[in-house]
Amino acid sequence: MKKLAISLTIATCFVSCKKEAETPADPLEQYETTYEVIQGAIWDQSCISCHVAGSSFARQSDLVLTADVSYQQLVNRSPKNESAQEDGLLLVGDKGLESIYSSFLWEKINVLDQEHFYSDHPGYGSLMPLGGDPLTNGQLEYIRQWILAGAPKDGDLVDRTLLNDTSKFQTPPFEPLAIPTSGVQFHVEPFDVPANSDRELFIYEPLNNESPLYISSYEIAMKAGSHHFILYSFPEDYSSDLPQTGVIRDVYTSSGGYNFNTLFFMQYHEFIAGTQVPTLRYNYPKGVALKVPANSGFDLNSHYANRTEETITGEVYANIHTIPEEEVEHQAQILNLNNQDFVLPANKVTTIEKTYTFSQPRNIFQLWSHAHEHNTEFKVYIVGGARNEELIYYSNDWEHPPILQLDPPLLLEAGEGLRLEATYDNWESRDLKFGLRSTDEMMILFGAYYE
Ligand code: HEC
Repeated sequence: MKKLAISLTIATCFVSCKKEAETPADPLEQYETTYEVIQGAIWDQSCISCHVAGSSFARQSDLVLTADVSYQQLVNRSPKNESAQEDGLLLVGDKGLESIYSSFLWEKINVLDQEHFYSDHPGYGSLMPLGGDPLTNGQLEYIRQWILAGAPKDGDLVDRTLLNDTSKFQTPPFEPLAIPTSGVQFHVEPFDVPANSDRELFIYEPLNNESPLYISSYEIAMKAGSHHFILYSFPEDYSSDLPQTGVIRDVYTSSGGYNFNTLFFMQYHEFIAGTQVPTLRYNYPKGVALKVPANSGFDLNSHYANRTEETITGEVYANIHTIPEEEVEHQAQILNLNNQDFVLPANKVTTIEKTYTFSQPRNIFQLWSHAHEHNTEFKVYIVGGARNEELIYYSNDWEHPPILQLDPPLLLEAGEGLRLEATYDNWESRDLKFGLRSTDEMMILFGAYYE
């Protein structure tokens, strides 16, 4: 009997203990100090793809995190970000607890506090790593304790087993946004997305605004499974009929063809606000606002891609926050560089280039790319001027391209411009072209600027 019990334990262990038995010797043993652990296990893994000498990201953030210089770059150094500088933050101070509250590095990585980060600090840019998964809760606690200990270069002061906690911050559950104190809330009410299908729809909502509105920020919350949500307006001089108010207009018919009535309106759309991540709060730079003329309306565009075997429910809340006209110093303009003229031959990797030059100087403060699943890389270069050929935007994640905030804004003089370079792996046996479906392709650079 006894023997049987033992072999049973071993048998269970074969299933549930396998992982443990395969784990190699502790990879952290090679590091002597706490800071070496931070460098090797965190910066080297999650940050130096961008924060490396010579890259445009390093230039923009003035921050290099490779082992040779990272400590001097971080400790007792002022941030490049102007709002953080004005708030008197250091990247990392050496004063222990006090330094937690005055550390811009900590603000930038502490995803647990993201509500606070985006709502209280409009000028602080994005959470890091930009566009990627957050650091694990264990990594965050390890860094926090290093700052608490005075951010030393030497010494092995923080408990390394903290790093065993590999859980990550989860986006909070979908819930309604609070009604803005000054602004407008939109709600796309729950709708079904059938199994294994795309559903993309529009709903037109008039704003009934007697005078112009000035948008200074917006928030979007989408229920899980969404591909994107975008608010569009129609041009001020638009003279055809507007879509019917409050009625769902599907892009596809039930048999999978296009609803041409829906497509008709799309050619007039002007981009106002949008996101591809489940929750977003976006703030325009201080004093900058997007003007919405009197008596406008927005076309709400929701796209869900349901790759499961069950029907899912889509639902979206979107808030625009407005400021009085007196507070507007610069009017924001929408950048929408949409290249529809390309062919991607079957079974080939193809790179498409397209250059856009501008006839007026522009201050660009936001950029994000939009493409579909065959897109492997999306690059944007400056054309002309002192920074000719500099790479300023990079995404290798078509589903979640980073929404890049440029602070200070990128100034392009008249005659200068941007070159878009998008690479696609067309593994299909048919050629691909521009199209609205997620199985077609796109090459769009969205953004915002002021003149
Ligand atoms: C995809 C590229 C990318 C990755 C990966 C990335 N960053 Fe950044 N980082 C940026 C860009 C661009 C900026 C400037 C814009 C901003 O602050 O949002 C920036 C800014 C920062 C700043 C502010 C610097 C200043 O003085 O204003 C800190 C701190 C920072 N990053 C830390 C990190 C850390 C730590 C990681 C890894 C956990 C990381 N970043 C990963 C691109 C990246």
